[in-house]
Amino acid sequence: MARRRVDAPDNRGGTVADRSGRTWYVRDLRPADTDVLAAYFTLLTPADYANFHPHPLDRETAERLTAEVSSGGACRCLLLPDRDGAGGALGYGFLDDWAQAEPSLGMSLAPAARGRGLGIAFTGYLVDRAAAAGKTAVRLCVYRDNVPAYRSYTAAGFREVDSHLEAWGGRERDEVGMRCTLRPGR
Ligand SMILES: CC(C)(COP(=O)(O)OP(=O)(O)OC[C@H]1O[C@@H](n2cnc3c(N)ncnc32)[C@H](O)[C@@H]1OP(=O)(O)O)[C@@H](O)C(=O)NCCC(=O)NCCS
Repeated sequence: MARRRVDAPDNRGGTVADRSGRTWYVRDLRPADTDVLAAYFTLLTPADYANFHPHPLDRETAERLTAEVSSGGACRCLLLPDRDGAGGALGYGFLDDWAQAEPSLGMSLAPAARGRGLGIAFTGYLVDRAAAAGKTAVRLCVYRDNVPAYRSYTAAGFREVDSHLEAWGGRERDEVGMRCTLRPGR
């Protein structure tokens, strides 16, 4: 699996490497990131939204999420192609229920960042982030037919715990609940 690094918790960031060895940067969402997050949401297609709909992907939501950064309810991260953020965000991931022992993970990449192993690496970064905060496990839900996501999560250590038919957007799909158990010092 691609190498990755979570900096000391007070740095609120780190790096991941894609399959070619290129370094990408991850940092926590900041209150000033409304434009960055709103611009990122515009990169996702309706087909992406059908797979990834934890909340609306619009500017109003970007405003709400950046305003809530210090609430402690979630750990939200941006994936950046360069350290200074000049290229905008090409990925967005989060650990919701952050106050709980088992937060729930969500993650997406801009189309331009896909197919490089970053789905696996970014998932791994978020899992490491939960482990560094002393969490005991991470949970998530994924549609079974979302193959890149399912494979990313399996490669990062998630295993199926249950599944059910979920109705969303006018169709029913098999939605899988997954869990990754964390060991101290992972
Ligand atoms: C899910 C997502 C982050 C995965 O990132 P990615 O860059 O596409 O995937 P990666 O390059 O890291 O590859 C992950 C795995 O999926 C496989 N994969 C990637 N694209 C694939 C495709 N179109 N068909 C089949 N397998 C595919 C890769 O081969 C790899 O598996 P492997 O390690 O066994 O070879 C990205 O596709 C995305 O943002 N999708 C839209 C939002 C979304 O669905 N989020 C998840 C919601 S639960």
